[in-house]
Amino acid sequence: KNISIVGVPMDLGADRRGVDMGPSAIRYAGIVARLEQMGLNIEDKGDISVNRPHRYMETENHKYLDEVVEANAQLATVVSQIMQEGRFPLILGGDHSIALGTIAGVAQKVRDLGVIWFDAHGDLNTGETSPSGNIHGMPLAASLGYGHERLVQIGGYAPKIKPENVVIIGARSLDEGERELIKRIGMKVFTMHEVDKLGMARVMDEAIDHVSKQTQGVHLSLDLDGLDPHDAPGVGTPVIGGISYREGHLAMEMLADADILCSAEFVEVNPILDQRNHTAQVAVALMSSVFGDKLL
Ligand code: ARG
Ligand code: MN
Ligand code: MN
Ligand code: MN
Repeated sequence: KNISIVGVPMDLGADRRGVDMGPSAIRYAGIVARLEQMGLNIEDKGDISVNRPHRYMETENHKYLDEVVEANAQLATVVSQIMQEGRFPLILGGDHSIALGTIAGVAQKVRDLGVIWFDAHGDLNTGETSPSGNIHGMPLAASLGYGHERLVQIGGYAPKIKPENVVIIGARSLDEGERELIKRIGMKVFTMHEVDKLGMARVMDEAIDHVSKQTQGVHLSLDLDGLDPHDAPGVGTPVIGGISYREGHLAMEMLADADILCSAEFVEVNPILDQRNHTAQVAVALMSSVFGDKLL
């Protein structure tokens, strides 16, 4: 595989500052060397430039909408160029609002795109249902065509994905409006209940089957808060009772074996809230597994 890395130093989609340092933290943890050691061809395209507001003024129910839209429009262009060159985009976040731009870029090239959304949250809010106004709680809804027109239309088209081609894995914190949307559109969600009951192996078998049936490629959107805070403490919105480090690796290894991914993003790493860059190291380890690293 030929992989192109893009960092998105964005934290305006979230309440807590610091997740904009995620790309630096992941590079510092050695992502490029690790993947090169595996014999992969790596190009680091550097970071998207994110406009910072002069003053952090929180407005209405879509905080920093202009800045988030602008950065994601840029990201969509870069990602679709990478796809055009036949390379695999690996996007480093940044808060989860950057999935708007990644998916806009990927879905432009892959008509029927599957998505695996690995997260403690649904990120299925709209401005009306969001309890926070934070756009990182909205990107999956917007990619499906729900929410503010400017978020829905990033990349100039909508919707990017169909609900039947999406799965969420690891959910344990869903807002009322998110639960309603999930039921209304009949989306497949493996909450922690299913992970506990069925085990990660069976969950991944079913998830892979679900997202690859009617699609030409699958995007992995991995929010590090999907993992348990014990294993990934450096995230902005930790929720107890998550996926273990081992289960995370198993999930990534099964994705590597299934060979269905066309793109991936690893988001919400916050080195400020971390201990010795542990969470970025976890992210790098998971990335090596998803690109096929094996002991034997
Ligand atoms: N559901 C909450 C909200 O809308 C939390 C979202 C957290 N999202 C994330 N990408 N960490 O504000
Ligand atoms: Mn998320
Ligand atoms: Mn989350
Ligand atoms: Mn543990």
